[in-house]
Amino acid sequence: MHKISRQDHAQTKSANVNFLLEEKALRRRHNLKWSTYGEEVLPAFVAEMDYEVAPAIHEALLKVTAGQQYGYPARNGRRTSEYVAELYASRMADRFGWQVKAENVVVVSDLVQAIFTTVLAFSREGDGIAIQNPCYPPFREATTSTGRMMIPIETKDDGTRLSIDFEGLSKAIGPLTRLLMLCNPHNPTGRVLERSELENIADLVCANDLLLVSDEVHSEITFGGARHVPIASLGKAIGERTITLGSAAKSFNIAGLKCAFIHFGSNVLRDRYLSIFPRRVIVPGHVMGIDATIAAWELSDTWQRDVMLYLGDMRNLLLNRLQEEIPEIRVRPPQGTYMAWLDCSELQLPCSAHEFFLTEAQVALSAGHTFLPHGDNFVRLNFATSEKILNEILDRMVGAIRYRS
Ligand SMILES: Cc1ncc(COP(=O)(O)O)c(C=O)c1O
Repeated sequence: MHKISRQDHAQTKSANVNFLLEEKALRRRHNLKWSTYGEEVLPAFVAEMDYEVAPAIHEALLKVTAGQQYGYPARNGRRTSEYVAELYASRMADRFGWQVKAENVVVVSDLVQAIFTTVLAFSREGDGIAIQNPCYPPFREATTSTGRMMIPIETKDDGTRLSIDFEGLSKAIGPLTRLLMLCNPHNPTGRVLERSELENIADLVCANDLLLVSDEVHSEITFGGARHVPIASLGKAIGERTITLGSAAKSFNIAGLKCAFIHFGSNVLRDRYLSIFPRRVIVPGHVMGIDATIAAWELSDTWQRDVMLYLGDMRNLLLNRLQEEIPEIRVRPPQGTYMAWLDCSELQLPCSAHEFFLTEAQVALSAGHTFLPHGDNFVRLNFATSEKILNEILDRMVGAIRYRS
């Protein structure tokens, strides 16, 4: 792994780092991340940031409670879901030059709901669904728990980065395959697919008459030169076969508030979905999630810029320290997301890497086997925390390796 310089993030010094929280304040948060384990454990698992939200989001939420806005909501004289569907469309155009029709956007609560409902709406029991391995756990769960067959597509390491095994993918597609579920930027590896790789996937999807579900929730969290390309933006043929999932939940740290988007590449796909899950059944975004999303996308670019610069530094700190102090851990620099996928095989640990670091370092990472069957040698580390906490996490991991009996 090559060393990453600070050059990419030379502007960091100009960033306003006023969103960090002390460990004490984090432990007072009623969230899974900071309350699953005891005081002796530092958590680096659940995908959320240890940061304050953007000031505009905080103010928007205060307004809801101060004004007791607890009735049926409207914004700008319209139904909230119509308003945010248009906001999603303009965000996609601004950020990625992708033109979408707001009428083909359905507002839902969260992306796990979107993953499950799209699987149910666009496949039947016994159908095959191709999914990259390792994968965000609800991908597998939505497939196997509903009687679908997961077709695992392996991840290849070309020596510098991880990618989908395209040959494996084209061989794995069979007569029962209905759907391909893509995650880009990829959780847990942090890979951001290039245009040419996306074109490859698009060709396979079209040639095999598949539908594509593309989870792009991490699209605004990319580093260095990596740039997210919505696969549906590549052209009409793939656009019409693609269902894109997105929200402000990850990039603005508001996953608990509930507001997410499903974009259908055609009104035929949208109508099929709505015939199975009518709007009356689907819980649309919660008023808090909707107001937070509006504040995020309309008023919080400065906060996002500052956080991204800081996250870039945390990523580099992590990669440099691992390279210098635990070079046996193999990690490919994540191009997106704030997670790193650590291959600990070379450490030859006596138990799973998750168990080792939890018991010997008091650091809670995400267990590899939840993303990858037999993935006990892997862990996912969330580096969206303060420099102080990240250094403490790394000190503990290094100490546990160095002084293991
Ligand atoms: C790829 C991906 N999709 C979906 C989600 C979950 O999103 P939500 O909280 O909106 O259900 C996550 C959470 O980490 C994720 O990484």
